[in-house]
Amino acid sequence: MSDRLFVFDTTLRDGEQVPGCQLNTVEKIQVARALEALGVDVIEAGFPVSSPGDFNSVIEISKAVTWPTICALTRAVKKDIEVAADALKYAKRKRIHTGIGTSDSHIKYKFNSNREEIIERAVEAVKYARRFVDDVEFYAEDAGRTDNEYLARVVEAVIKAGVTVVNIPDTTGYCLPSEYGAKIKYLMDHVDGIENAILSTHCHNDLGMATANTISGVLNGARQVEVTINGIGERAGNASLEEVAMILKSHRELNIDININTQKIYPTSRMVSSLMNMPVQPNKAIVGKNAFAHSSGIHQDGVLKNTQTYEIINPQDVGINDNSIVLTARSGRAALKHRLSVLGIELEQEKLDKVYEEFLKLADRKKDINDDDILVIAGADRTENHRIKLEYLQVTSGVGVRPVASIGLNIAGESFEAAASGNGPVDAAIKALKKIINRQMSLREFTIQAISKGSDDVGKVHIQVEYDGREYYGFGANTDIVAASVEAYIDCINKFTN
Ligand code: KIV
Ligand code: ZN
Repeated sequence: MSDRLFVFDTTLRDGEQVPGCQLNTVEKIQVARALEALGVDVIEAGFPVSSPGDFNSVIEISKAVTWPTICALTRAVKKDIEVAADALKYAKRKRIHTGIGTSDSHIKYKFNSNREEIIERAVEAVKYARRFVDDVEFYAEDAGRTDNEYLARVVEAVIKAGVTVVNIPDTTGYCLPSEYGAKIKYLMDHVDGIENAILSTHCHNDLGMATANTISGVLNGARQVEVTINGIGERAGNASLEEVAMILKSHRELNIDININTQKIYPTSRMVSSLMNMPVQPNKAIVGKNAFAHSSGIHQDGVLKNTQTYEIINPQDVGINDNSIVLTARSGRAALKHRLSVLGIELEQEKLDKVYEEFLKLADRKKDINDDDILVIAGADRTENHRIKLEYLQVTSGVGVRPVASIGLNIAGESFEAAASGNGPVDAAIKALKKIINRQMSLREFTIQAISKGSDDVGKVHIQVEYDGREYYGFGANTDIVAASVEAYIDCINKFTN
């Protein structure tokens, strides 16, 4: 008999806390629908009290998906719990995820409190949350560094108070796999009433051990895993859904059953990466560009004779379908639509027509259009609601001449123009831009990345600008890297001007 393991996806909550990767509500709904199709059991949709945007996203996601439980995060604070319950009002299945720090450093420095008082606050929060929903999960923040005996007392108390799931976060990513597994085992063995709740893993990747710790937790009795697509999350991220899922699918001898449709893994990964403007590292397990690319002669020879020689996973099992990656100017709408749907993007006819127009323009400039290009085009109208838009950009540069740029911006319907010279074409263009947008802002980071290879490629630019003591992120993509840079700058500026 196999054991059922529940997959709790926190891409839209812990994952979305990555600076510069915030999604708007429409984008979050797109991700939530993809997670539903992927088969996750629980979607953590946000932290409703944290902002009106998060509150609204939890409401809209609750309306948009049917099967997964929708979960909302709170602190052990009554107001948070009330707001979360309100945000979950349309969810068909709902869960409140409340909790408090339990390590000595959290108790002392964060709460200026003591162990007994923390148990009381935990119990009170769980009981209060149970007034609104039947399904309450409790997190013992920094459980990774919490003394096991005390942790067992906390877990026992919250189970008595009525939780269905107890989350044991390794918040700082500190634990060794053996240590984390032993912690779960300790709780399984020492908590009275443990059979009335499920233990959940929630492992961060600060020391690169999030996936290993998660699996170790499962092997010792945890029956829920908290994960994110591509392992995104604050700092070094969270345990990645695709790694945990494929470990469990590959090691059938473990007899652990999950509901994930693995063929949706790759499209979901690409969608999240594209919407969050967060590239996946090429050597990332399961979903990186090189995850199935055999380059050495010996490996290629072996794989050509029989894929099993060097491949433990069939790429098609995670939804990688190499045969159809390239589209050209001769490809029709249907081919584009199919490719978009393989990538997890379903578009209405009107939007598809727009994307197709952009696709044809790009195909005129670039011979082969790959998945990354398509994802960039499909996300291109994210600038539609921008108050500041690029009207035109002309740059003259070369050897022996000082680069000069002239730029036209449309700001809330009014046109503005400026020109400037600079050390290079990007510098000239940004100086011209700054003549119109006259604010004290400074560039903190600037990266240009070619999507694949070839001089006809689309360049992606990520920038970080500091303005008024805060940092803002911007993104631009264009076959002209000067234009991509200016687009990224304008994307940033739109975030702090209104
Ligand atoms: O890492 C953590 O401790 C968390 C909790 C808020 C669940 O994300
Ligand atoms: Zn976390």
